[in-house]
Amino acid sequence: MRKAILTVVWLALAAMPGMALSQSIIIKFPHDLAPTTPKGQGADYFKQLVEERLPGRVTVEVYPSSSLINDQASLEALAFGEIQMIAISLSKLDRLTKRFQVFDLPFLFADMEQVEAFQNGAVGQELLRELEGRGLLGLTYWHNGTKQLTAGTPLRVPADADGLEFRIMDSDVLLEQIRAIGGNPQKMPFSEVYQALQMGAVDAQENTWSNIYASKFYEVQEFITETNHGYIGYFVAVNPDHWRGLPEDVRNVLEQSLAEATQFVNTTAVAINDEARADIVASGRNTLIALTPDEREQWRAAMRPVWDMFADDIGAEVLEAAGAAGH
Ligand code: SIN
Repeated sequence: MRKAILTVVWLALAAMPGMALSQSIIIKFPHDLAPTTPKGQGADYFKQLVEERLPGRVTVEVYPSSSLINDQASLEALAFGEIQMIAISLSKLDRLTKRFQVFDLPFLFADMEQVEAFQNGAVGQELLRELEGRGLLGLTYWHNGTKQLTAGTPLRVPADADGLEFRIMDSDVLLEQIRAIGGNPQKMPFSEVYQALQMGAVDAQENTWSNIYASKFYEVQEFITETNHGYIGYFVAVNPDHWRGLPEDVRNVLEQSLAEATQFVNTTAVAINDEARADIVASGRNTLIALTPDEREQWRAAMRPVWDMFADDIGAEVLEAAGAAGH
C-alpha cells in the first residue's frame, strides 16, 4: 500500500512541468577576476553552454571577483569538495608542486604559441594530472596573456626597481625574480591588490593588460612598462572524486562544453588584452614605456639567474619540453 502511494506521488511529480525529480547538480565555480577578462568570459561561456545542454540537471554557479572565496583558499576548498571547479593562476600552484614553476620563469616563453605548444604536448598534458592525489584534477589550460610592470614611478631599466615594494602572486619564482631586480616582493591575494596600490602599501606590481584594466590598477599606477616578461595562464581543475562520481552522460556534456569554452578563451585572450591596452591608452591617465631592445635585454639579463635557482625543482624533462616548444 505504502509503495503504491509513493508510486502515485512520484508519477504526479513527474507530470508537473518544470518540477525536477532529482536535485540539480550544482557546480560552484568561483574565480578572482572581473567577468570581462578572458577567465571571466570563459567561465560565463562554460555556464551558458552547460545550462543550455543540461537544463534543470546542472547549474553552474559562477562567482567572479573573489565574491565567494579568494584564489588561495579556493585550492583547499576544491580539494575538500566545498566548491567543484576552479581556474587558478598557474603561479599559485607553487606551494603544492614545484613543476608548475616553469610557467613563471621570466622570459622563457617567447610567445603564446610556445606556451600553447608546451601545454598541448605530452609533458604539459601530464602536468594536468600532477595534483590529482591532492584533490585537484586539471582538465585544461586557459590563457590570459603576458605580464607588464606597473608602478608609481617610471621603470625603464632594472635599476629603477631598486628598493620598490612589489606585489606578487604566491610564487617563489616570482619572489626571486623581484629580488633579482632589487625590489622587495610581497605575496598578496589578487583581491587585495587594488587597495594596496591605492594606499601605497606596495609601489608596483606585474600583470596582464586585461587584469590591469578590469581591476582598475591603471587608475592608481601611472607608469606601465611593456616588458612582456612572463605569462599568466590558468589551471582549470575539478575535484576528482566529484568529477568521476557524476553520471557519465553529464560528465560528457561538461567535457564537451569545457573544450568549447577553452577554444573560446584561448582564441580570444590576445584580443581581449589588446583591447584592454587600447582602453588604458584611451583613458589618457598613464605613461606607457616601450623598451628599446637594449633595455629589454637588461631586464632579461637581470632576471635570468632565477632559471638556475629553480631548474632542479622543476626538473629537466619539464624545462626541456618548454624550451623545445619554441622551435
Ligand atoms: C589572475 O589572473 O587570476 C590573478 C592574477 C594575479 O593574482 O595577479
